[in-house]
Amino acid sequence: MSSSSSSYLRDEDLTQETRDLISSLPSEKGWLVSQMYQFQGRWHTQALLQGLLQCQKHFEAKDSDIILVTNPKSGTTWLKALVFSLINRHKFPVSSGDHPLLVTNPHLLIPFLEGVYYESPNFDFTELPSSRLMNTHISLLSLPESVKSSSCKIVYCCRNPKDMFVSLWHFGKKLAPQETADYPIEKAVEAFCQGKFIGGPFWDHVLEYWYASLENPNKVLFVTYEELKKQTGDTIKRIAEFLGCGFIEEEEVGGIVKLCSFESLSSLEANREGKLPNGVETKAFFRKGEVGGWRDTLSESLAEEIDRTMEEKFQGSGLKFSC
Ligand code: A3P
Repeated sequence: MSSSSSSYLRDEDLTQETRDLISSLPSEKGWLVSQMYQFQGRWHTQALLQGLLQCQKHFEAKDSDIILVTNPKSGTTWLKALVFSLINRHKFPVSSGDHPLLVTNPHLLIPFLEGVYYESPNFDFTELPSSRLMNTHISLLSLPESVKSSSCKIVYCCRNPKDMFVSLWHFGKKLAPQETADYPIEKAVEAFCQGKFIGGPFWDHVLEYWYASLENPNKVLFVTYEELKKQTGDTIKRIAEFLGCGFIEEEEVGGIVKLCSFESLSSLEANREGKLPNGVETKAFFRKGEVGGWRDTLSESLAEEIDRTMEEKFQGSGLKFSC
């Protein structure tokens, strides 16, 4: 995949250890990547699998850490901006004209664990200021042991699968226009529903964190993109309470909502120009930012296929998406 614009889609820079492991793993041809590999129940690109392995081996969680977990295209960028401005609101008042988010893309402020372990294996996580804020797409099952055994906090953000799929579909086309050009969307929806999709099965990822949030509400907070859209301020307050951020003024909540809104972030130069170290353009993380936007991309029958799968997979869990 050398023509793609993201280093996460390339098969270069793999260690011998990763190559040896990959040779023993089930693999499939996938949408967006020529080959993906099944490890601990999930489908990975080679690069992010290497990042995951390094992360499992080297990452030492601290009790004060905050880890944001999402499936790709589920509101990661937004959640990063919200939690960054929340926990740093005394250091960087949201109303100040020189807030870091005004000049820096959220992905450059908060490290993506498996991405950093792939791109910069020598990155020193101990250098990050406390509370360390990081994000990952790693499934609950595959998290480094210290994340599970420490008292660090996990904020999980989920998005309704139709919008998430459609967001990823358009993102993939930007990332790898040639590779995705002739791939029929029907085939991609089928693979997504079957779970044979990068990072998938989506359903297992969501359910694992959903049940963990019910079983251990002090460890895992489960929020959705849809509730963030509908009640941004109230959801920020829930996150603040969960993280033990202390009293937060209404004015501060309003300031965070405004600073991190789609309109605000997407209009900043830092999010319109330039690229991340992995080669992805910062503007690729801002498309429509809507709930129910899938309607312009999915036919009725494809939407029904995802709905049917969602009902089947989430049956009895208490998880529901009405859009
Ligand atoms: P769409 O493609 O549906 O527009 P991620 O950050 O996990 O990669 O997710 C990207 C999705 O979140 C994109 O969805 C993007 O437009 C949306 N998004 C990015 N910033 C947002 C914000 N501040 N508010 C709401 N949605 C946002």
